[in-house]
Amino acid sequence: MTELTRISISLEASLLEAFDRYLTARQYENRSEAIRDLIRDRLVHEQAEHGQGEQVAVLSLVYDHHARELSHRLIEKQHHHHHLVISTMHVHLGERHCLEVSVLRGPSAEVRHLGDELLATKGVLHGELLLTSGEGEFSRWG
Ligand code: NI
Repeated sequence: MTELTRISISLEASLLEAFDRYLTARQYENRSEAIRDLIRDRLVHEQAEHGQGEQVAVLSLVYDHHARELSHRLIEKQHHHHHLVISTMHVHLGERHCLEVSVLRGPSAEVRHLGDELLATKGVLHGELLLTSGEGEFSRWG
């Protein structure tokens, strides 16, 4: 494990109280773990925003597989960007609806572009692109 450095910070009592309520609600055992998570979350966002390093993302899509040509169009788009699509899980939610979860990895701009394109495909009912970082960043951050 990476060596830890102890720091102290000053903040308003009311801000600390609000933060402690957040910790309790999120089931954190201590402030340090929660602050580490907040810092990593900010760094992941910064990295995604500035397009540096390797972008990893989880894309979820819910769609009606009866919608005309939709399954086919989604598969075409994924094949076209096959170098970015690491793996896909398909779940049949019921008679009509499918949930697809894909892990994407590659240059930030390309990953976001593909995610946005799939989410905006006509007939996709719900979905989300969750951006995270790659092995390089998490290793560097300890
Ligand atoms: Ni299905």
